Amino acid sequence: MRVAVVTMPDQIDQDWIARLGQDPRVGWMERVAILSTGLEMVQQSRPDVVIVDRPPVEAEEFIRQVFTTLPTTTCVAITSLTDINVVRRLMMAGARDVLVRPVRHTDILQSLNSVMQIEQDRRNRQIVTSDRQSYGRGKFVVVISPKGGAGTTVVSTNMAVALRQISSGRVALADFGLQFGHVGTHLNLFSRHTLQNLLAKSDEIDDTILSGVMQQHGSGVHVLLAPSSPEVAGEISREQICAVLDSLLLRYTYVIADTWCVLDEVTMALLERADDVLVVTTPEIPALKNVKFFLEYMAQHQLTRGRVSIVLNRFPSVEGVSLEDVQQHLRHPVSANIPSDGQLVTFSINRGVPVVLSHPQSWVSQSLRKLAAYVAGEQVTTISLEPEKGKGKGKGIVGGEPRRGLFWGLRRQT
Ligand SMILES: Nc1ncnc2c1ncn2[C@@H]1O[C@H](COP(=O)(O)OP(=O)(O)OP(=O)(O)O)[C@@H](O)[C@H]1O
Ligand SMILES: [Mg+2]
Repeated sequence: MRVAVVTMPDQIDQDWIARLGQDPRVGWMERVAILSTGLEMVQQSRPDVVIVDRPPVEAEEFIRQVFTTLPTTTCVAITSLTDINVVRRLMMAGARDVLVRPVRHTDILQSLNSVMQIEQDRRNRQIVTSDRQSYGRGKFVVVISPKGGAGTTVVSTNMAVALRQISSGRVALADFGLQFGHVGTHLNLFSRHTLQNLLAKSDEIDDTILSGVMQQHGSGVHVLLAPSSPEVAGEISREQICAVLDSLLLRYTYVIADTWCVLDEVTMALLERADDVLVVTTPEIPALKNVKFFLEYMAQHQLTRGRVSIVLNRFPSVEGVSLEDVQQHLRHPVSANIPSDGQLVTFSINRGVPVVLSHPQSWVSQSLRKLAAYVAGEQVTTISLEPEKGKGKGKGIVGGEPRRGLFWGLRRQT
């Protein structure tokens, strides 16, 4: 059977979900923690069963949408409330079964088997809905810092991977750090196919051209690498960048742009077109001074029509400026913070494995996942001044081998 699980961003690694994914009776399983992309995923993949593990009001609405649009898909709800009114509302919305937490693997399997049996008859007589593909413009997110070394690439790479993990959306990460872009280094990807290949053909970019240039990262994120020679930067026009961007936005749910700290024609074009601008800064005076100028500059020149959010990286920090002082100085709220963890972040960068993959339980990874959820439009608390209880640095290191060779030794070449 084909199963989709819709859960909360911090619940995506529950034991029963992992076990269900390994069960031989489950031929296909997708998990998602973002409601909007969850609905899109369910509507496109049309699983046999959707297990909805969200708070009652959200679950009710989600189940109603599935029930009223997909006659071949059955919903099972999970709730912590035994209140009969909650159960009734979920059933009225279209749930075939309601399980109460804590959920065991066997409970889930029994429930799935029963509802599938009951559905068998109904399914034979169903009118199959027409194939609807939802093509549209993806969400464009620019990650930028007006001061070098603030953590832009750490944030953009990890957020792209986290977005892919929690939303199951199609995610593209484009390196617009035109001269010395280092997204490839952070992801251990290397190729001679880069943004440069798209520039000459910017008027005719199609699926074939794009698939030859986009590098596939193991996480499922597709990466557009920066040109390999720095002099290309001066030759890129605004029109070319807009054409590349349009071709990406047509094909991906999220397009994340990593940038350099130069306000040139290309960066301006990116900012103007962004739905979300994440301004990354550390809690230090020189970085904050630049951010203040940058925010004022953007406001004066009406540079962006999208949401502008401050991401305070390496915060909390010993001897750093306080959150209140940062907000007061910038006259702008801080939307998210990423704690400082030199050991894990250095480990991750040196191995080319994003920290959300190498140390998924760490505080820094939790914060990056929350940032991804925020970008996806979820209502999440993105300021965390201490790690969640019971979750520390995290075990289960993935890709723990140091990268051999000084630079290009272990990189995948295409
Ligand atoms: N949350 C963090 N905790 C600890 N160290 C961090 C964190 N974020 C970034 N760093 C450190 O800061 C360095 C710079 O990060 P990164 O390369 O992402 O910055 P950048 O803004 O992209 O720099 P550039 O201007 O060169 O593009 C990293 O090599 C890493 O060591
Ligand atoms: Mg960078």
